[in-house]
Amino acid sequence: MKIVIPGGTGQVGAILNRALTAAGHEVTVLTRRPAGRGEVPWDGETMGPWAEAIDGSDVVINLAGRSVSCRYTPANLQAMMDSRVHSTRVVGEAIAAAARPPRVWLQMSTATIYAHRFDAPHDEDTGVIGGTEPDVPGYWSFSVDIAKSWEREQEQADTSHTRKVALRSAMVMSPDRGGVFDVLLWMARLGLGGPVAGGAQYVSWIHDRDFVRAVEFLIDRDDATGPVNLAAPSPLPQRALMRALRAARGVPVGLPATKWMAEIGAFVLRTDTELLLKSRRVVPGRLLEAGFTFDHPEWPEAADDLVRRVRGRRDDSIRSEQTSTAAQRT
Ligand SMILES: NC(=O)c1ccc[n+]([C@@H]2O[C@H](COP(=O)([O-])OP(=O)(O)OC[C@H]3O[C@@H](n4cnc5c(N)ncnc54)[C@H](OP(=O)(O)O)[C@@H]3O)[C@@H](O)[C@H]2O)c1
Repeated sequence: MKIVIPGGTGQVGAILNRALTAAGHEVTVLTRRPAGRGEVPWDGETMGPWAEAIDGSDVVINLAGRSVSCRYTPANLQAMMDSRVHSTRVVGEAIAAAARPPRVWLQMSTATIYAHRFDAPHDEDTGVIGGTEPDVPGYWSFSVDIAKSWEREQEQADTSHTRKVALRSAMVMSPDRGGVFDVLLWMARLGLGGPVAGGAQYVSWIHDRDFVRAVEFLIDRDDATGPVNLAAPSPLPQRALMRALRAARGVPVGLPATKWMAEIGAFVLRTDTELLLKSRRVVPGRLLEAGFTFDHPEWPEAADDLVRRVRGRRDDSIRSEQTSTAAQRT
């Protein structure tokens, strides 16, 4: 298949590009800074020659959006919103204008759309959309507004020949450098992998290989439309998630952190505590109903697998350094 991935240069894009290319598909990435083969320039805002890549493609997977791991300043919040809404709008325009539109448009969304909640999991049918919870900081509603506007933009696009799916994805855990798992592992290794603010808040996650398999499943399932949760069926409290991660990495202790310590940490890391403190208890109702099975449904096993692959990645890079040093000597 010909697959176009707007915003495909980031963490999730790299995972998909690698897997879909290895499976024999022709992948084109739309990026603001093209650097190599298979990358086409666009600005994420306006129509341009890039739209030719979409005309005649089979699948579009739009991932574009300013990273949410940043300080929530008014300017950053606006950029988080605009980059998602504008890129989705223009992707919709390109699909609508195509002589041979793609069969399916998978649009990234987020599991953060659901309410902060501990008592029950959110699936697509019974889940509660967030933004009006009384017991959370008011500014948390902005992330929900972004997610709702993002999905609305796709829903409103006039693309009658193209099936539309919104991917309400949980954190995608992969062994790649700089990804979410890498950061959690780094904190655990520093002894900081303990409960944050009590650690009762749920973390929803999905193993990278299940994420790819779910995307492939949704491409193939002609009856899949609308929002779909991409999350392992067993979200767990943050303290249990970090405990299992420490066990997988062989780190005996993880210091607990209070809310204000998390504030300081988030300030130092230039991010926001919402990412740590919001309880995201999200389950894959529609995927399971459609017969999708997870290879990595439980976190302790998934964490073991990811730690093993991080170690493999490090061994590979040491080996290639040794080979190049040896080559320089000869
Ligand atoms: N990572 C996760 O676990 C996760 C979970 C749920 C949802 N998501 C969502 O999935 C999407 C991809 O995630 P990711 O982790 O791969 O993010 P990422 O690493 O930050 O990559 C996002 C890509 O979007 C493009 N981009 C950034 N600002 C843009 C702008 N102003 N206009 C147009 N394009 C822009 C960038 O591509 P260029 O700089 O090359 O143009 C960047 O590579 C994001 O929207 C994210 O919110 C991610």
